[in-house]
Amino acid sequence: MKPLRIERVVRVIETLSDGQFHSGEELGAALGVSRTAISQYIKDVQKLGIDVFRVTGKGYRLSSPLQLLSLPELQELLEEYQEDSTNVALERIVTSTNDRVKHGIKYGISSGHALLAEAQTQGRGRRGKRWLSPFASNLYMSMYWRLEQGMSAAMGLSLVIGTVVAELLSELGVYDVQLKWPNDVIIHDKKIAGVLIELEGQALDTAHVVIGVGLNIAIPSYLSDKIDQPWTDLSQLLPTPIDRNRLAALLIMKTRAALREYGQHGLAAFTARWNRLDRLAKKPVCVIMGDTVIEGIAEGIDDTGALLLSRNGKLERFHAGEVSLRYDA
Ligand code: BTN
Repeated sequence: MKPLRIERVVRVIETLSDGQFHSGEELGAALGVSRTAISQYIKDVQKLGIDVFRVTGKGYRLSSPLQLLSLPELQELLEEYQEDSTNVALERIVTSTNDRVKHGIKYGISSGHALLAEAQTQGRGRRGKRWLSPFASNLYMSMYWRLEQGMSAAMGLSLVIGTVVAELLSELGVYDVQLKWPNDVIIHDKKIAGVLIELEGQALDTAHVVIGVGLNIAIPSYLSDKIDQPWTDLSQLLPTPIDRNRLAALLIMKTRAALREYGQHGLAAFTARWNRLDRLAKKPVCVIMGDTVIEGIAEGIDDTGALLLSRNGKLERFHAGEVSLRYDA
C-alpha cells in the first residue's frame, strides 16, 4: 500500500476503534474523500484482519473496540517510570520493526531507541519463520542497542531479553511462565512471546544490535490455525484486557534496564533468574542442527548463554540449534 493510502486506512481504523457506528458520509467528510473511496478503504481494513461490518442506514462498525497504541500516552508512561521518553517511536504499519530500526541505525538513532508498530506486513521470527503480525492485536517492538562488548556477547543478551519478557508477564499476574532455550517465552508449552536478535557491524568492534520482541495479546480467531506452533496470548490468561500502552512502556523500561545491567555485570547477573524459568532443566532433550540430532539431558546455561547438555557423563555446550523436549525418554 502507498503511504497516503496507509495513512487514510489508519485514520478510518482510528475513527472506528471506539466500536461505534460511523457512516460512510461521516468518514468521507473527515478524510476529505468520497463514500466510494471509503468503501475501498474499508476493504483494506478487512485485509488487515480487522473485523468490520456495515449496517444499512447506520454505517460501519468494528465487531469490538480496539485499543490503539498512542505515542503521547506511551511517553507519559515512560516519564512516570523515569525513563527516557524521547527515544521512542510509533508506526502504524511497517514491513518489520527490526528492518525499520536497522534502517534507523544508518541515520543515527541512538542506543535505547524503541520502535513499536501496530502491524507488520513481513514480521520475521527466528530461523526464517514468519511472525504473523495482525493490526492492534499484539505488541511488536524493536530496540537498538550498542553492545560495547561486541558480537560475542549477543548470545547472552538474547537470553536476557527472554528473561525480561517472562518476568514482566509474571509480574502482570500470568502464572507458569517459562523459558525454552534460548529465549522462547512459553506457558504450558505454548508460545506467548518470541525474541529475534539481529546484529550489524564488525565481529571485533562494538556491535549494533537490533532486539525484536513479539508478544501475543489477542490473536484474532481467523489466524488461530495459521500459526505453525502451539501458541497462547494474554487474552486467554488474564481476567481483564491489558492496557497495551502500559504493557509497551513497561517492556521498553525493563528492556533498557536489563541491557544496562548486562553491560555492567554480564550474564552472571541473569543466570539465576534465567534458570528459575528454565522449562528444559534436567529434562531429556534433543538439539537439532541441520541434519544432526543430538540427545542429552539439559543442564541449564553457561556464562555465555550456551545450552549445556549432559551426554555420556560429560557436559557439552551448544551455541545454536533448535532444542525440543524428548517425550519418548
Ligand atoms: C521468534 O521466532 O520467536 C522470534 C519472533 C520475533 C518477532 C518480533 S515482532 C517485532 C520484531 N520484528 C520482526 O520482524 N520480528 C520481531
